[in-house]
Amino acid sequence: MQSCITLLFLVLVSLVGGGSLHEEDRKIYIVYMGKIPSDAVYAPTSHHQSLVQDILQGNNLVEDVLVHSYKRSFNGFSAKLTTAEAEKLAGKDSGEIPTAESDVIIGVLDSGIWPESESFSDEGFGPPPEKWKGVCEGGPNFTCNNKIIGARVYAARVASSLSAIDIQGHGTHTASTAAGKKIEDASLYDLAKGTARGAVPSARIAVYKVCSLSDCDGHAILAGFDDAIADGVDILSVSLGYPNATMFYKDPVAIGSFHAIEKDILTSHSAGNDGQSQQSVSSTSPWLFTVGASSTDRRLMDLLVLGNGETYMVDAVNAFNMNEIKFPLLYGANGLTGCYKEQAQFCVRGCLDRELVKGKIIVCDTAAGVVEAFESGALGAIFIEEEFYKYATTVYPLSATLLGSELGERVKSYINSTKDPVATILKTESILDYQAPVVSSFSSRGPNSIVPDIIKANIAAPGVTILASFSPLGHPFGIAEEGRSVKLSIMSGTSMACPHVTGAAAYVKSFHPEWPASFIKSALMTSASDMNNSKNPACEFSYGSGQINPIKAVDPGLVYQVFPEDYISMLCDVGIDAEKIQIISNRSCPEDSASGNARDLNYPSLGAHVADNDPFTLTFTRTVTNVGNPSSTYYATIRTDSVNINVTVMPDILSFESLMESKSFVVNVVGSGLAYYETATGSLVWSDGMHSVRSPLVVYAFNFEP
Ligand SMILES: *[C@@H]1O[C@H](CO)[C@@H](O)[C@H](O)[C@H]1NC(C)=O
Ligand SMILES: *[C@@H]1O[C@H](CO)[C@@H](O)[C@H](O)[C@H]1NC(C)=O
Ligand SMILES: *[C@@H]1O[C@H](CO)[C@@H](O)[C@H](O)[C@H]1NC(C)=O
Ligand SMILES: *[C@@H]1O[C@H](CO)[C@@H](O)[C@H](O)[C@H]1NC(C)=O
Ligand SMILES: *[C@@H]1O[C@H](CO)[C@@H](O)[C@H](O)[C@H]1NC(C)=O
Ligand SMILES: *[C@@H]1O[C@H](CO)[C@@H](O)[C@H](O)[C@H]1NC(C)=O
Repeated sequence: MQSCITLLFLVLVSLVGGGSLHEEDRKIYIVYMGKIPSDAVYAPTSHHQSLVQDILQGNNLVEDVLVHSYKRSFNGFSAKLTTAEAEKLAGKDSGEIPTAESDVIIGVLDSGIWPESESFSDEGFGPPPEKWKGVCEGGPNFTCNNKIIGARVYAARVASSLSAIDIQGHGTHTASTAAGKKIEDASLYDLAKGTARGAVPSARIAVYKVCSLSDCDGHAILAGFDDAIADGVDILSVSLGYPNATMFYKDPVAIGSFHAIEKDILTSHSAGNDGQSQQSVSSTSPWLFTVGASSTDRRLMDLLVLGNGETYMVDAVNAFNMNEIKFPLLYGANGLTGCYKEQAQFCVRGCLDRELVKGKIIVCDTAAGVVEAFESGALGAIFIEEEFYKYATTVYPLSATLLGSELGERVKSYINSTKDPVATILKTESILDYQAPVVSSFSSRGPNSIVPDIIKANIAAPGVTILASFSPLGHPFGIAEEGRSVKLSIMSGTSMACPHVTGAAAYVKSFHPEWPASFIKSALMTSASDMNNSKNPACEFSYGSGQINPIKAVDPGLVYQVFPEDYISMLCDVGIDAEKIQIISNRSCPEDSASGNARDLNYPSLGAHVADNDPFTLTFTRTVTNVGNPSSTYYATIRTDSVNINVTVMPDILSFESLMESKSFVVNVVGSGLAYYETATGSLVWSDGMHSVRSPLVVYAFNFEP
């Protein structure tokens, strides 16, 4: 194993000017360098000094700019630097492999992987960590390396033999998002151009192919968990699930991930893509780390220009160029062959007359018309879709764009208004989106229909138009006959958000290899950035604790620890039969369990379901463990967004004298009653001046179907 150290991240934390330094404004930058090498000869402070010496400009002394060397719990330093020096320091990432990160093994349960992708090259990697007990059984033509260290197959046949080779692209995309190596100049036909990189490029990947082209079998998923846990993975990434909530004892992801958490392996799981409707979140178990999908500030937008000069800018991913030349527009209903108008307007397969559509832009009354639009040989297409939010991120196989019904009507009336309607569709461009991050409309929402007091999703992470590696055997535009093959593609979904959190959890673990899974989950939740509710109507039910912030999560201050038996107590508390609990664990219910709610689980967020129009008094008992400064004092701040609740915390000051010391407190919530569907929200923040440990609070009245 190599023991070289590289810079992992450079982040601007404050705008403090530099005392005696004059030549240019200096700001304090923090450089995180991972775990402290166990290597006896390593001297952190002198290493930090020499790194700063190398980049320092002018006559400044290292001692004057180096603010702090971190060398007790993790490796890193802070320094007052000019922008140019900071950039130089950032550039010192020499591509060497950070030891701590390369010790982390991510297990991916998905559709397999394309092992030859540049994302998975093992250049510079040493052999797998010693704890690794897995195998490479990816089928006849599948080779592992020191990056992809294991592969197993439970589903999907290629050339009549079981193979871990990804023929869909999904598994390659998610694995490279979590842990892919850096690819410069990445794009999909020049769209979203830039550097593509996984969250932890030096971590190892173990592949568990549990999905075939049609679905992911429950028995295969369970086999994947069973093997991954025994193989020695550290974190599991599961971008699959049922479309709707299922009782945990019937859900292979919930069962498998419970066995994982018993071995202290965290499972990151996608929330689901059934957005819009309440209670659509299908990842409901408190031991799962449930991820909703948010937008990034790189928004892909497409321009449609009609012959009458009207111009519409819409969210659509179109990689093809019409060179701004206007072409004739044809409404599907007028381009039919042997079909009814009512079918042709929706561009039903086989309904469009190939001669008529040739050289034209076809207008279809549904996004599903894409197959016929493409197969009929149309030059371009405009899809009109009432539920356009569901398709806003589709990647098209031809020059195409997507409109909601209102704009769609305007295009149709323009077609009616003239003898020779024309239009052009421009190639999609990236624009900077100042509104981001916003939870995508497709991301599934709470409340949690299985355990109503447990807020789901847990966190939001990027999941909209994500560029990552893809399988050249997959169909980037969703059409099998199309024949284009790409090495990277753009995909959207909570499937894409999940591996961002997997990677972030691996990132935190690389700083704290000894931390239990619940510390990592707590750190990521309590450090997440609060999201703006006027842009996120489903509030905490869409983003949970907020937008992921991995850098802050490395140093959370306090954590909420949960032991596997606590989950069992919670299941007993909410009245689940002992027999059902036996399906996931041989533990039995404690004597005193019958509280009827899940509020005493030591969860890093505070949720409660109450009956409508009834006064309530709720208590949440919580225990926090100090992982910040040994001697520290935290003060509680309560924020309530609703006049319908009064919230207090006792005690509201917690003093710690040592690391790993635990302190308990009780949150009281009193309300005079909430109307049906009404939600009262707020938050509890513990702060010692350096760390801010935030838990969202949500009390709601909502009738559940039995
Ligand atoms: C393995 O690769 C060889 C050579 O490319 C090919 O002929 C064979 O069909 C492949 N086998 C499978 C099972 O894909
Ligand atoms: C899931 O939703 C589908 C369609 O809405 C419904 O038919 C099915 O019964 C639901 N399954 C469960 C387990 O609730
Ligand atoms: C276009 O004209 C057709 C036939 O006259 C008519 O049925 C349709 O409602 C018109 N559409 C619009 C949007 O004006
Ligand atoms: C939240 O979003 C609204 C609407 O975009 C904006 O007016 C408001 O300033 C935002 N609030 C914060 C705190 O950013
Ligand atoms: C329950 O599981 C534990 C850990 O695997 C084991 O040691 C114990 O014997 C089991 N108890 C029963 C009753 O099966
Ligand atoms: C909150 O406390 C204030 C002051 O004691 C009281 O006037 C108010 O009615 C309380 N609100 C609720 C919802 O209990």
